[in-house]
Amino acid sequence: MRHLMSPLDLSVEELDTLLDLAQDIEAHPDKYAHACEGKKLATLFYEPSTRTRLSHEAAMLNLGGSVLGFSSADSSSASKGESVSDTIRTVSCYADICAMRHPKEGAPMVACQHSKIPVINAGDGGHQHPTQTLTDLLTIRSLKGRLNNLTIGLCGDLKFGRTVHSLINALVRYEGIRFILISPEELRLPEYIRHDVLDRNNIPYEEVVRLEDAMPQLDILYMTRVQKERFFNEEDYVRMKDFYILDKAKMKLAPEDMYVLHPLPRVNEISVEVDDDPRAAYFRQVQYGVYVRMALILTLLDIHVD
Ligand code: CP
Repeated sequence: MRHLMSPLDLSVEELDTLLDLAQDIEAHPDKYAHACEGKKLATLFYEPSTRTRLSHEAAMLNLGGSVLGFSSADSSSASKGESVSDTIRTVSCYADICAMRHPKEGAPMVACQHSKIPVINAGDGGHQHPTQTLTDLLTIRSLKGRLNNLTIGLCGDLKFGRTVHSLINALVRYEGIRFILISPEELRLPEYIRHDVLDRNNIPYEEVVRLEDAMPQLDILYMTRVQKERFFNEEDYVRMKDFYILDKAKMKLAPEDMYVLHPLPRVNEISVEVDDDPRAAYFRQVQYGVYVRMALILTLLDIHVD
């Protein structure tokens, strides 16, 4: 039985196969419409979500399966003090696969150690968000035609942004990747990722504060929200929250074939005036998130469609 805790749980070859499957699902959705008939997905969300929970559920429904679950800790027996390990033992009796989001780093890992069904990490604290990374990789590969030889700008909250941490871990395995890390000093990428992931893999990167300086060099601009829920005090959040606002004027500095991605939700960091720019790819990214989660469910349940 396999789980997905980190993008590194999949080898590059397995990842390529999964992305190929997602692209086949996009091209031939009818072929997969009954692939999971009789199977159930449980969504165990201890933290708010729109995309990750609903896209897992849409993915299972598109595959002909059914869904059950809870969307907040308050509406589950976690509010009475039930542990993650007891919850997953229970849910293993009800479902065939589950996706778990939890504010504590490592909670889905605890779950998979006590689970009889595959567990998907749907985001754990400031740590990892592997299915967002699969979404991002599928989006980049679909739009740029490759996952190698890219200059990627990561902008915003690089300290707490788990989507950024997961994406870096996944991309360093490809040739010719270069990062421009765009953040205020207080929200720099954590040192353990700079040293253990970037330096250890000899990945070229530079750190800049001004978004304008990075724009002309980029193949992909990955914007992120300042993570209000991870700040220890409101004052720091208020000071940081509008540090970057991508607008039409800044988009003029970017190459014609650069794409803007964002895991969403956005707050103010991308002005709505950018939405009509053909390079704004964040809502296409949402759609790719359904295809890739369909591919992931099939892969973890070891279901093959001819
Ligand atoms: N991208 C993402 O994780 O969005 P949600 O928090 O809405 O699931």
